[in-house]
Order: sequence, then C-alpha cells, then structure tokens
Amino acid sequence: MALIDNHGRKVNYLRLAVTDRCNLRCFYCMPEEGIDYVKRSDLLSYEEMIRLVKCLVDLGIQKLRITGGEPFLRKEMMEFLASVSTLGLKEINITTNGTLTLPHIPALKSMGIHSINLSLDTLDRDRFFAITRRQNFDKVMETFHALMEAEIRTKINMVVMNGKNTEDIIAMAELAREFPVDVRYIEEMPFNGTGRSGGPEWNHLHILERLKSAYPQIKRQSSKPGATAVTFAVDGFKGNLGIIAAYSRTFCGSCNRLRITPQGMIRTCLYDEGIFNIRDMMRQGASDQQLKDAVVEAVSRRAKDGFEAEERRLNLASESMSTIGG
Ligand code: 5AD
Ligand code: SF4
Repeated sequence: MALIDNHGRKVNYLRLAVTDRCNLRCFYCMPEEGIDYVKRSDLLSYEEMIRLVKCLVDLGIQKLRITGGEPFLRKEMMEFLASVSTLGLKEINITTNGTLTLPHIPALKSMGIHSINLSLDTLDRDRFFAITRRQNFDKVMETFHALMEAEIRTKINMVVMNGKNTEDIIAMAELAREFPVDVRYIEEMPFNGTGRSGGPEWNHLHILERLKSAYPQIKRQSSKPGATAVTFAVDGFKGNLGIIAAYSRTFCGSCNRLRITPQGMIRTCLYDEGIFNIRDMMRQGASDQQLKDAVVEAVSRRAKDGFEAEERRLNLASESMSTIGG
C-alpha cells in the first residue's frame, strides 16, 4: 500500500520524536531556562509507538527516523529499537545530539541501524559551549569517532548561524575529507524567539558560496527522491557535503515525511502546528482502522509546502524544536 497526499506526493518516511526534553539547550532551539516538560504519561508509551508504527507500515511507511535531542534520554531505548526493527521497515535511522549515544554504538551496529545523524554545530569547544550552554563537546566528538570506527553510516547536521559558527563551515567540511561522513549545513529556522523576517543571513545560497570559495571544483550530485539536502561532492573527499534549505523550503515539492511528536501530535509538515492528536484517539479506544483512517485523512489535506503550512498556523515562534525533532 502507498500513502499519497493531495499533491501526489508519496509519504513513506516517518519521523518519530521520542522525547520532549533535551540535555543540551542550543539557543536556537530552546530558551536558556529550558522548556516545561510534560508529564511522563503525556508522552506516547513504547507500546503506543509500536502500535502506531505497525499501522503506518500497513499504510505504506517504509522508513523510520527516531529523533531527539537525544533519544537515549529515554530509558530502554535499545529495547524499543529492537522491537521496532521487527515491524518490516526498510530503514531505521536515528538523529541524536551525541551526548548519551556512545555506550549503545555496538548494539546499534549489530542491530543493523541504517544511519545516524549527529547534530553538531561546531568543532570548537568554546563555541560548542556558547551554542549549547553545556560542556559536552568531548563526549560528542568521542561519539563521532566511535561511529566512524564502528563503520556506521553517519551524517553531521550543522545549523549555520550568523556570528556563531560560520567560521566552522570549512573545518566541518574537512571532516568529510578525512572520514566517510556526510556533512550537512542547515539553514536556521525561526523557532524559539529567533524569529525574524527576511530569513537567515546564512541561507543556502550563502552557504554554497562559502563552500565554492574553498572548493571551486565542488560538484552537485543528483539527490535521492524525497531528499531535503542538495548534495555535493569534492574530489578526494570520503564523504559528501549537503545543504538543507530548511528556511527557504526548496524541497517541499517532493516531501515524503510524516511526523509524530512525543505527545502524539501528527504533523504533515515541519511548519504546521499539529493536525490531530493520535495518542488521544488511542487512549479513547480507537481501532487500528480508525487510526489509519485519521492518518489518511490528514495526509489528504496536506499543505502544499512549508509556507502554506506556516500560514495556516498561529504561533510559529512559540515552540521548541527539541520537541519536534527537526
Ligand atoms: N533551525 C534549524 N535546525 C534546527 N534544529 C533545531 N532547531 C533548529 C533551528 N532553529 C535541528 C538541530 C537539532 C534538531 C532537533 O533539529 O539539528 O539538533
Ligand atoms: Fe540542541 Fe538539538 Fe537539543 Fe535542540 S534538540 S537543544 S538543537 S541538541
């Protein structure tokens, strides 16, 4: 079965955010004082998540990404991943800030996890502290090297921010010369009070200019269907470079993603405010068929792009990306 939206796009990729908290407090993601965490019982339980993933696999979801902050903040994450890996998905991926992942790397390797995205915005310890307000730089770098040693497919996601880490753009790219890691630069999005009109100064064009000035021979690659990154190769590099126009939203035309927040909100776009709460449906006794029908219905009313989704919502700047999972 395939899940097709009202604009003819196939939706086959689920991003499941599993925790409403994050042990880093990157200033572009969370206010310094943190956010109000929800009650544990407000979060989807593992049983509920397994049930949902099963229903969504029946509907045509083939790939899953578990997102944080740091998914391993949740207890028994490994056991959950083991169960989820029996549900017939083609790929399971994880997005992590790399602070609690290290001890799980051997188990992730042996369970055949498809890839890990590491959120890392700088290679400088002081800038890491300035951005995340936490002293976790060494731990995250250790995690990166352990991922390389385990030969797990890894991407680094760096949010590019004016005046904060643009001097790291090339240093980060150089990691892809030495290691088989894809380095992806993300435009900063206007969440959490960083809202501003006109878009980020370091947009995808500006980032590409910077890369071109250092690597004039950089070559654009063809991208996989549904990819958000525009990918580039540099001669002699083991990994690729990528740019994700998260603010400019150049990739919406082929978006294949469905999102579920830790509290069970279904989002059909990163920029929407949640279409309906599927946790509440489950807790009110809905059948699998009713859950599936509700998802199909939401997907049939999808905004055509992130601009339309943003127009439909009321308050973009009021929530933390750490609870959406990017
Ligand atoms: N702009 C772009 N990316 C963001 N992320 C979080 N906040 C933003 C933002 N304002 C990404 C980071 C983070 C993941 C959850 O989403 O990479 O670690
Ligand atoms: Fe930083 Fe990611 Fe945590 Fe947000 S979710 S505070 S960006 S590590």
